[in-house]
Amino acid sequence: MQRRLKPNVFITRRIPDESIEMLSKHFNISIWDKKNQPVPRRILKEKMKNIDGLLCLLTDNIDKSLIDKTSNLKVISNMAVGFDNIDIESATNRKIMVTNTPEILTETTADLTFALLMSTARRLSESENYLRNGKWKTWSPMLLAGQDIHGANLGIIGLGRIGEALSKRAKGFNMNIYYYSRTRKKEKEKELGINYLDLNSVLKKSDFICILIPYNYDTHHFIGKEELTKMKPSAIIINTSRGEIIDEHALYSALKNNHIQAAGLDVFEKEPVSLNNPLLSLKNVTALPHIGSASKNTRINMSIVAAENLIQGLNGETPDFLVNKTIF
Ligand code: DGY
Repeated sequence: MQRRLKPNVFITRRIPDESIEMLSKHFNISIWDKKNQPVPRRILKEKMKNIDGLLCLLTDNIDKSLIDKTSNLKVISNMAVGFDNIDIESATNRKIMVTNTPEILTETTADLTFALLMSTARRLSESENYLRNGKWKTWSPMLLAGQDIHGANLGIIGLGRIGEALSKRAKGFNMNIYYYSRTRKKEKEKELGINYLDLNSVLKKSDFICILIPYNYDTHHFIGKEELTKMKPSAIIINTSRGEIIDEHALYSALKNNHIQAAGLDVFEKEPVSLNNPLLSLKNVTALPHIGSASKNTRINMSIVAAENLIQGLNGETPDFLVNKTIF
């Protein structure tokens, strides 16, 4: 009897052991495991020729030229909810399934978004640097005074799962919550006690504006000079989605010239952000290295969901989190 060969799977980075164990039961796996750095493109190109499944990260740019290298590839499993690093159209044309890991990271990312909002409003990083640099000589009335969070107006741009989870946290702080979303969600308004406004009104009314829309062709520089100009001079903008949604040049100029108060950024147009990025020279920017979903449990769970998607897809089932459903 001829034994069926196991499918070949390439994993572009060391991911938690739990998911590697799952995958090795089903597949011949190989892992790029060098110094926790992204796999060089040359190697990825070579790998693409002979694999049936790919488990990749948001740091891997899976574009048309890579997808065209494949002949057996059936599933690209991205260990992220965002999939802007993958050319979905090319994958779909080649009938390759693309999967992601939503749901599992919702609460963790909402936690970080609210933490970044609080930290930016109350100037936590700046205050800690002040103390560690030996500048704290006395208590003084307006020293490092920030913005109140309780009772303030929160504008959520993008009422997906994370936006919804964020609104629940904000309720606990008695914030007035407004949202803008491409489609109005009247049921959610009642359930969450939040109000829909058009984009201009959200920009004008909010003390805090949280960006939670996905990045794609339509949302490139969704927030630019025009939108920043509409915000209050006391407004604080928080971005935990993708850096390219905000035009960083316009943001720098708005922050530098005090057209808005501050920004909390977990994501940047180019990652890792260069230390020469002018935004990092501003005290009114709180900057984090894309850690929205980075709790230990959530990252393990994301890798498990990514592994499950791959196993389902390569076993001929429809993966739980298939992005390009039109391939069937
Ligand atoms: C995602 O999943 O898209 C985040 O940016 C990382 O968790």
